[in-house]
Amino acid sequence: MKDRLEEMSRTATAAMAQTDSEAALQEVRVRFLGKKGELTGLMKGMGQLSAEERPVIGALANRVKEELENLFDSRLAVVREAEISRRLARERIDITLPGRRVFAGSKHPITLVTEEVVEIFAALGFGVAEGPEVEKDFYNFEALNIPKDHPARDMQDTFYITEDVVLRTHTSPVQIRTMLRHAPPVRVIAPGTVYRRDSDLTHSPMFHQVEGFLVDKHVTFGDLKGILTAFVTQFFSEKVGIRFRPSFFPFTEPSAEVDIQCVICGGTGCRVCKQSGWLEILGSGMIDPEVFKSVNYDPEVYSGFAFGVGLERLAMLKYGVSDLRLFFENDLRFLRQF
Ligand code: FA5
Ligand code: MG
Repeated sequence: MKDRLEEMSRTATAAMAQTDSEAALQEVRVRFLGKKGELTGLMKGMGQLSAEERPVIGALANRVKEELENLFDSRLAVVREAEISRRLARERIDITLPGRRVFAGSKHPITLVTEEVVEIFAALGFGVAEGPEVEKDFYNFEALNIPKDHPARDMQDTFYITEDVVLRTHTSPVQIRTMLRHAPPVRVIAPGTVYRRDSDLTHSPMFHQVEGFLVDKHVTFGDLKGILTAFVTQFFSEKVGIRFRPSFFPFTEPSAEVDIQCVICGGTGCRVCKQSGWLEILGSGMIDPEVFKSVNYDPEVYSGFAFGVGLERLAMLKYGVSDLRLFFENDLRFLRQF
């Protein structure tokens, strides 16, 4: 009986020493010290012992039990410690790794340019007006001295909704709407979206313009030239080449288009400027007396100038973008650069 107790004690000690997890250790404990374990099994044989042996073996059994319980406790501490270390190693976080950057949204380049243009003209005393993108033929063409069968309608390839309703082809109808509501003097800019059946490197079917016009007594072409030159030099802070080129619009007389030296090629000629070295950014002129008649302004008393500038063109030149269509593709790699 004594031998069997000591044998069991050795086996249990060895088994505990081999465990490397709390679960395995608990299994060993149940196997030897549990209610139905080996120690309990051995104790059942106590009845067969003589009266002298019984207290000796009983004391030995108690000692073995106590030793094994102590061993279990100390092994449990070791195993738990090891489990924690393993988990820490597994879940380690390298706090020296660089963080991942969170990108915040930013304004679209066309929005940035619109805001800057509005700001420059606001500083020159211009107020801001707006008009509808779905526009009546009357405001888009008729009142601007472009009657229905006039060949000038071919200058702008129009999206018609009905015979009398169009997607506005320019921001010039805002001139008419504003002048019909306000007596002169007026000094207004009107940013907005416009539509034409047009598509290539420098033309998009949907694009943006800012209209500007000023009507008062004694306004001259010199005022037009001065304001537009001031605008261009402020907008392109560098010394960019600018030229006024005679042109034609049914609603202005005389008319001029303004070109900016192509910043893509520095004026030597490229795909964007069609080898000319210049890129047209706006149309302008002195408001035609016919237009004044359709808004009941007296052309004998008042004169004024107007212009319409293409915002995508400004953005291309300002940021050196060689294809205008990039502005509308919503490619984040492009948009994040602004
Ligand atoms: C006009 O639209 C006239 N309403 C401008 C004007 C206003 C003249 C007031 C006189 C008085 P034009 O069609 O040239 O003119 O267009 C003006 C500008 O819009 C152009 O110089 C160009 O910068 C831009 N633009 C024209 N078509 C497109 C297009 N499809 N895509 C992008 N920009 C364009
Ligand atoms: Mg033009």
